[in-house]
Amino acid sequence: MTEAQAIARALELARQGWGRVHPNPLVGAVVLASDGTVTEGFHAEYGGPHAEAIALAAAGDRARGGTLVTTLEPCAHHGKQPPCADLIVQAGIRRVVVAMPDPNPIAAGGLASLERAGLEVVVGPGRREAEDLNAAFIHGVGPSGRPFVAVKLATSLDHRIADPAGHSRWISGDEARDWVHWFRAGFDAIGVGGRTALVDNPALTVRGAIEPRTPPRRVVFLGSRRLSLDSTLVRTARDIPVVAVAASLGQADSAALLERGVTVVGANGLEESLVGLHAIGIQSLVVEGGGRLAGSLLAGGLVDRLAWIVSPVWLGDTAIPGTRGFVVPSLLQAERWRIVERRPLGQDTLLVFDRR
Ligand SMILES: NC(=O)c1ccc[n+]([C@@H]2O[C@H](COP(=O)([O-])OP(=O)(O)OC[C@H]3O[C@@H](n4cnc5c(N)ncnc54)[C@H](OP(=O)(O)O)[C@@H]3O)[C@@H](O)[C@H]2O)c1
Repeated sequence: MTEAQAIARALELARQGWGRVHPNPLVGAVVLASDGTVTEGFHAEYGGPHAEAIALAAAGDRARGGTLVTTLEPCAHHGKQPPCADLIVQAGIRRVVVAMPDPNPIAAGGLASLERAGLEVVVGPGRREAEDLNAAFIHGVGPSGRPFVAVKLATSLDHRIADPAGHSRWISGDEARDWVHWFRAGFDAIGVGGRTALVDNPALTVRGAIEPRTPPRRVVFLGSRRLSLDSTLVRTARDIPVVAVAASLGQADSAALLERGVTVVGANGLEESLVGLHAIGIQSLVVEGGGRLAGSLLAGGLVDRLAWIVSPVWLGDTAIPGTRGFVVPSLLQAERWRIVERRPLGQDTLLVFDRR
């Protein structure tokens, strides 16, 4: 296996921790032993063994003189696990290839410590992919004070999210819906607008092959709306937490929600709403529409990632648009997003874009 293949494999391994390790990063590692043996590991569980430690343990003495390839700078601090940088030196590894430095100042320092110990260190191969994989983690160690926000929309070819009567079940097919459940599992919370909560009465749970370590909280951006006490969300609030973010909920409405186990966050505007969610521990959020909420988030510059599922169906001009309330004065002022991923999901197409 070449180092380039090992980086690709380590990224694939890292992805297997999705839904189980956040707010910690996804990490994969491969040991290329000097006798040609290849061993691998990934961070599979929050607080559990690190990817490098697993790959090194599997290699044993064969690691001596070999190369370790990893998606993130090995840690240098004593956290829930011993420092990986020390393990790498003790294992007799000669060369370390790292996709990206650790943006977390508490865990960083591994590269310097490996260099001090005389190992050959290379940083950068696969960096873009590693950063894309850990975008929420990188955002989380930054100063924004709000969650990492992804917007997920399933639209027709003409960018409509529901027919003229508001029906959106189902625009996309089974594979796309399975992917959405997988995607949800990697976030602290799943959010929708107040109209979507009313029209679709969604459960916003993860129901698929993947079981998240902690079920994402469910968030409704009510604005000036109310949340029906008969809604699925309110009725199941004691099983999986529900947060209602509201601008002007009366005392009686708030009390009725609180009594049923719903957390109420008072906030004016989306920015304040997101800060309020961050304050109760929500570091990453996937917003699943509707169009008004998605449009307002875009207009506010509050979307970090857009996961867009396009289905081969036309819904026409009277159907509900994918985004509303977002005006761009001219092409010159239009922001261009960066493509992160594009692939088929059955008959549908997944497109993932990041703002930067
Ligand atoms: N295909 C899909 O992926 C998909 C996904 C979800 C929903 N849908 C469909 O979308 C339709 C509903 O979408 P919609 O666009 O009508 O409504 P929506 O975006 O679900 O709801 C808008 C709600 O968000 C609230 N809100 C809070 N803060 C806001 C802000 N700063 N800006 C804008 N809104 C804010 C609004 O409050 P105010 O009332 O105070 O403005 C309103 O309650 C349904 O038919 C549903 O089936 C499709």
